[in-house]
Amino acid sequence: MKHRVVVTESLHEDSIAWLEDRAEVVQCPSTAPEFQEAIAPASGLIVRTYTQVDQAMLSMAQNLRVVGRAGTGLDNIDLQACQDRGVEVVHTPAANRQAVIEYVVSLIMSEVRPVPPAVPGGLTPDTWAAARAAAMTTRQLSERRVGILGFGQIGRRVSAVMESMGAAVQYHDLLTIPSELRGRAEPVSLEALLEESDILSIHVDGRPENRHFLGADRLALLRPEVLLINTARGLVIDNAALASVLEGHSGRRAILDVHEEEPVPADDPLLGLSGVTLLPHAACRTIAAQKGMSDVVQEVWTALEPGDRGS
Ligand code: MLT
Repeated sequence: MKHRVVVTESLHEDSIAWLEDRAEVVQCPSTAPEFQEAIAPASGLIVRTYTQVDQAMLSMAQNLRVVGRAGTGLDNIDLQACQDRGVEVVHTPAANRQAVIEYVVSLIMSEVRPVPPAVPGGLTPDTWAAARAAAMTTRQLSERRVGILGFGQIGRRVSAVMESMGAAVQYHDLLTIPSELRGRAEPVSLEALLEESDILSIHVDGRPENRHFLGADRLALLRPEVLLINTARGLVIDNAALASVLEGHSGRRAILDVHEEEPVPADDPLLGLSGVTLLPHAACRTIAAQKGMSDVVQEVWTALEPGDRGS
């Protein structure tokens, strides 16, 4: 009998087709009324960011053998509960990296060196001088210190790009990073990172201990003209605390791609604040990343049929 694999969020169509050649694929959001019926006989389950794989879900899936997370973070999966039930968990840790790195660099450059705005009515000899005046920016990247919170695969690559463009880079990580992986980036304490970085980019994961890691006390250490960028996980920042540290300092800016609650709720304290740009969790929105994440179908298939390399 064919394995049934339930897919709860969107995957690249080629990956769905690949899996359909081998298994019975049922695409069904975990919130749909028919989900319980769909998951009951399934041996595989594939999720992305928004499906919570917890005890309650696992208890509906008595035949489940593998959960595939299309993407990197496993914070939406109760790993202990999966282990207790003998359910393997596979993911695609490398699939999003390039997309996130490009996005972070682009966000940084959009603030440091924005493309001059289009001149209403077009660039004419009459508007030329005013357009040149409006294009003036303040400090170049080479005059700024970039701080990286979490020096894993993505943090290190962002660091390398920033360094290659002339920025001074410093980082903080719980782990000691071997010197050959640091480039010229300097390891510093968390306090120094917060106090000294002109641009601070967050690259820590969404484990429960990281919830509100940046709360009022730590956020208060940020520089008066800091640019804070979060493309990692929304729960890392206490938004109410961030709103108060931004309100008091017009020079502080935050670009947040990820949010503790998504979509961002209408009463989020950051909504409408002038120093804040809220983005729709788009760091991984490239076709290559979507395809790479969706290739988790192959990991799932290998877990179900270990002898079949699936090519
Ligand atoms: C993430 O971990 O942020 C996701 O993989 C993003 C996505 O699914 O698009």
